[in-house]
Amino acid sequence: MEELENIKLGEDGCSLVIIDQTKLPGKLDYIEIKDRETLFEAIRKLRVRGAPAIGIAAAYGYYLCAREDMNEEDFYRRMDDAERYLASSRPTAVNLFWALARMRQALKQNALKPREEIVECLRREAIAIHEEDIAANRSISEFGLSLLKDGDTVLTHCNAGPLATSRYGTALGPVLLAKEKGMNISVFADETRPLMQGARLTAFELMNAGVDTTLICDNMAGEVMKEGRVNAVMIGCDRAARNGDAANKIGSSSLAVLAKHYGVPFYMLMPLSTVDMDTPNGKSIRIEERDPDEVTELWFSERIAPEGVKVYNPAFDVVDNELITAIITEVGVLRPPFEESFTKAFEIKKNLGGR
Ligand code: MRU
Repeated sequence: MEELENIKLGEDGCSLVIIDQTKLPGKLDYIEIKDRETLFEAIRKLRVRGAPAIGIAAAYGYYLCAREDMNEEDFYRRMDDAERYLASSRPTAVNLFWALARMRQALKQNALKPREEIVECLRREAIAIHEEDIAANRSISEFGLSLLKDGDTVLTHCNAGPLATSRYGTALGPVLLAKEKGMNISVFADETRPLMQGARLTAFELMNAGVDTTLICDNMAGEVMKEGRVNAVMIGCDRAARNGDAANKIGSSSLAVLAKHYGVPFYMLMPLSTVDMDTPNGKSIRIEERDPDEVTELWFSERIAPEGVKVYNPAFDVVDNELITAIITEVGVLRPPFEESFTKAFEIKKNLGGR
């Protein structure tokens, strides 16, 4: 498979280069980002998307802001402005806030150094966030694969592959790793209305890797489960609350209900950077609401709904923790009760030297 680098620093270190995911699979376009406004727009419009990928892009964006020509009195205020501005691009995926908080902390820890050194520390911190995500995905993929056997079929929703993260992905990681190891796992990919991340991105990534992939409309998931054709549901996550309630792309919650009904294990795969211990439960997770046009006209040659119809377009929903069989992280497979498992997982990570 051709390895695509969805996010990278430009060669001169003065820009960020991302794949414009809105153009895939038709066109592989790269965008060079040099300022916070362009990055904000890229995140808001889902040119770069997926919880971990948004965090990584924001971390590089913060570093680029620190390179701007600012006098000493302005520097800290303008960096706070940059953080607030980038954080306001999308509300649900916690990785965005997590990565920006880490960058702010790196700034504070190095505050007494000359500006050039501060900027270099921020560059290194953004690269660390990126590299840690690659390592986390690899571990998540191994742990996820331990739950599958050769010949299984996984159903997935939205896109939680390399494009949404850094490499391997979370939910697609076990499948891609299986392929590398010569195993065959097949996938049903939900198309994922309204933005079609499943049809456009998941199908693209899996087919590039030679994975046996079948695209279905979102409302077909129950049927393939009922036919006994799904061994496991594997999806990513945008923010897991302390009690294990977990937000992901709209449609995830109804998939979990279906999986429970048909006795299919329901796994959510995520790095610990997606677990937000400060959010007590799913009710406290802010769900992004998006433009009605995404539902009524974006993908159609003509508008498909009557002018003036009311549209509700929440981009995410929350899977209730009791519907989740296990949460797969970089330190292992976590079982309910999740608050306890998360606490242990963070301890293990700390003992391994992680942050
Ligand atoms: O709106 P998107 O495309 O950013 O939503 C992405 C998802 O819901 C993913 O499943 C989630 O971010 C996990 S990505 C590893």
